[in-house]
Amino acid sequence: MSEDAKKAEQAMNNETENSDFSDKTLSIHARNSQAAQHAVSGAFPETEDFQPKLAFDESGKMPEPRSVYRYLCDLGLVDKRGIERRDSPVEIARQFEAALIWLHESIGVSGRTYEICFAGQQAGVSITAIKYRINVTNLAHEPCQQLTKHSVAVCSLALSELLPPDRHNIQEASGNFVLLDKLTHAAVAAGVVRHDLRRARNLHSQAFNIAKEDRERLNGHKGKVIWFTGLSGSGKSTLANALEKALHAQDKRTYILDGDNIRQGLNKDLGFTDADRAENIRRVAEVARLMMDAGLIVMAAFISPFRQEREMARRLIGEDNFVEVYVDTPLEICEQRDPKGLYKKARSGEIPNMTGINSLYETPSRPDLVIEGNAESILNAVEKLMKFCLERIN
Ligand code: ADX
Repeated sequence: MSEDAKKAEQAMNNETENSDFSDKTLSIHARNSQAAQHAVSGAFPETEDFQPKLAFDESGKMPEPRSVYRYLCDLGLVDKRGIERRDSPVEIARQFEAALIWLHESIGVSGRTYEICFAGQQAGVSITAIKYRINVTNLAHEPCQQLTKHSVAVCSLALSELLPPDRHNIQEASGNFVLLDKLTHAAVAAGVVRHDLRRARNLHSQAFNIAKEDRERLNGHKGKVIWFTGLSGSGKSTLANALEKALHAQDKRTYILDGDNIRQGLNKDLGFTDADRAENIRRVAEVARLMMDAGLIVMAAFISPFRQEREMARRLIGEDNFVEVYVDTPLEICEQRDPKGLYKKARSGEIPNMTGINSLYETPSRPDLVIEGNAESILNAVEKLMKFCLERIN
């Protein structure tokens, strides 16, 4: 283990030293003790609607102290022998299957990115699939779209980066982990690695000779992603179009990725649930990153209603390459405009998850640029956008 990793582990241990974790309890090394405490108390709620019968002893009481690990074992989700397996390290691949308990009020959906904490090790991770939920009273496997507080589920997870080999062994706690929210650092889930996924093995990055910088040199400008977020009808596509025209007129190489269009091709299998929107943005962020790597100025126009996904896109694409433009048009104005008649349909109950009506839009907390979609003329807005872009692409 490197010096840095040792220090980080020590710091985390110090933060959780007052917690009552025996060797057999979940080893939580969260960023702060509050998160760790939350994970433990949240793991075994004694509410009426959550009655983990299998965790009760003969007298009907839940034995104490219990670990998330043991609990998941009792539910048949993890191998019991693993509890004693302290001597040999558990190595995980970039993608693995895990059993977990969702601890938080916020909903867990596939496609969303979190911070994963193993013993002393931390990395970005996304839920790539919720395979099934376990009904804790009869052990039935149930289909599951999203994880709500106290859901016990089996999920596929993918690390955002490969941990360096010396940090890749999950030595303690047989692969126990906590998931933290990327923005608030609250513990949202606790779980155990079941096994790595075969498809993740034997994958290696290929290096090629022509780099982004070479392509940029040829283009005469840098590649960038200009990410427009805002309500439907706020003017994202109109602004992206106007900006592209202005850039094109100056011989810049550009491309627009637009929600309505992408959803008719690449993402035609996705709808408008929270999970589908998260997956929509995940795929689009990957595509935008590739196009930027090809040297293009990419304009992405998506409602992208959730902060977590916008932050994920920013991280994936890179802080220096990503410009978030919030098209701030009030809902009343978007509703008046209603170019596709969707708000009207939503108000009459025909559309169930319309952003702003019956689906959340989280206002950006730190956009790079705000365009007041109702107050500014397109001409003004494009001038502002052009100035902002040219400063960053030359
Ligand atoms: S996002 O939320 O996943 O980012 P995206 O930008 O791809 O959405 O797609 C939004 C477009 O889909 C809207 O401009 C609108 O034309 C259409 N649409 C259809 N149903 C809905 C809905 N329930 N909520 C929002 N937009 C919808």
